[in-house]
Amino acid sequence: MTSHTLVPAPWSVVDAGSSLTLASTTSLASDPRLANARRWFGKALGAATGWDLAVAGVDGEATIVFVFDAEQPAEGYRLTIGEKVLIEASSDAGALYGAQTVLQLLGSQAFRAAPVGASAWTLPTLTITDKPRFGYRGVMLDVARHFQPKNDVLRFIEVAAMHKLNVLHLHLTDDQGWRVEINAFPKLTEVGAWRRESSLGAWRAGIFDGAPHGGFYTQDDLREIVAFAAARNITVIPEIDVPGHSQAAIAAYPELGLPGSSLEVWTRWGINPNVLEPTAYAVDFYKVVLDELMEIFPSQWIGLGGDEVPLDQWEASEFARKAAADLGYESVAGLHGWFIAQLAAHLRQAGRKTAVWDEIGDVGLPEGALVHSWRGYQGGLDALAGGYDVVMCPEHKLYLDHRQADGDGEPVPVGFVTTLEAVYSFDPMPQTSAQDFPGRLLGAQANIWSEHLPSARRIDYAAYPRLSAIAEVFWSDPQSRDYPGFLRRLSEGHLGRLAAMGVEFRPLDGPHPWQQRPGIVGWMRDYDQEQLDAAGKL
Ligand code: ACM
Repeated sequence: MTSHTLVPAPWSVVDAGSSLTLASTTSLASDPRLANARRWFGKALGAATGWDLAVAGVDGEATIVFVFDAEQPAEGYRLTIGEKVLIEASSDAGALYGAQTVLQLLGSQAFRAAPVGASAWTLPTLTITDKPRFGYRGVMLDVARHFQPKNDVLRFIEVAAMHKLNVLHLHLTDDQGWRVEINAFPKLTEVGAWRRESSLGAWRAGIFDGAPHGGFYTQDDLREIVAFAAARNITVIPEIDVPGHSQAAIAAYPELGLPGSSLEVWTRWGINPNVLEPTAYAVDFYKVVLDELMEIFPSQWIGLGGDEVPLDQWEASEFARKAAADLGYESVAGLHGWFIAQLAAHLRQAGRKTAVWDEIGDVGLPEGALVHSWRGYQGGLDALAGGYDVVMCPEHKLYLDHRQADGDGEPVPVGFVTTLEAVYSFDPMPQTSAQDFPGRLLGAQANIWSEHLPSARRIDYAAYPRLSAIAEVFWSDPQSRDYPGFLRRLSEGHLGRLAAMGVEFRPLDGPHPWQQRPGIVGWMRDYDQEQLDAAGKL
């Protein structure tokens, strides 16, 4: 076992027992196909060291060389540190990951934005061969419940990229806010991007903060986010949640809701009975929204949500009942799948794929859909059996807004206890399940819902270091999983890197006093008890 502190752990490290000290005359060179990685690394290293790094030809005397090697696996790399630093990759992504590993080996000061007088920049001599376990290594950020300013999103991406994650799923719309500028429908942000006040803590407590909250991204903000992420091998998947979780849109354009709707942007958390009316107007409206979204986001997947759609309003609506009957459905439940199918067909015609939450599996998945399995594993397993692409993100395992310890000391204590050790032992596929399916398990994703995370500071606390552990599960060889070893790498190296990046992570022994939120009421859930209750109801 080497003494390195890399996170996520590489698949293979062979130490050569010596060291290489970089000089201020360090220069970089790259194959043109890997130039983006070289540029990214030059900026990061240049900022931390204050050096003026020269760019040289690949055949010359450069100290750090990015070489194209078609034999390297997708997103993989071989890093050799001897008299020089050699990063070999078959893609810019792999080269970026090799560069990220070098930065980690240089120590925490390499993650600062300006030099602090570090004495020497020394690397161990070694050979690392590395590649991801999964092609989809995601994190979802809910910027709808609490808007996260653009700069906070950019920083979130920088930290995610350091962990070799490659998907940022942005939950852009919900009952409590619409966060993306749509030129055809300006009221979506004029009206939909802010609310009067917000639930403070769990909505069941009935306490509100009395403070307006809001914000939205212009289309150029989002183009900047997309390009910044792409330069770090992160794909941004936008999600517009329909036909539930849509009250902010209905507040802006009441024609989208039940006739006569007069709703404000929702101030409360929870599942909302107000849903989109299943009209041609609503479908056409969202096609226009999707057209603008596709202009901004090159991702092959566009998220349509589809989760948590109460049927009460449609059951009470004469229009919806007739629409369901005309379409040949036995009940209004069919409209849930119908609504998603209309928009999925629109995306398909434009050459894109639909991403949906696993509820849509109950009412009919669109052709070629990607399923985010959040209600446990079963929705994902069913979709795999049906030949679909699946990303596992079960709520009881990978929801990072859920509390990190038992007791009432966690800010705010909501959801299932989801400890660092528990997320480190996550299995994207339950071991009891069959492992071969017609569909493809693309990977997994951690979800960060933000009802109780109003700022980047709160998101840092919820995300790290649990997301460091999850990144290792998504990337590293599952045979070498080792929790004590992971804890050692965290305390001897990785927490220092996070601190140097200014990440306000949760200390391993619990929150700092200023990270607590005494008096804010949570809602603690017990997974085992809920399973027993559900079984009792059968
Ligand atoms: C979800 O947690 N409603 C996807």
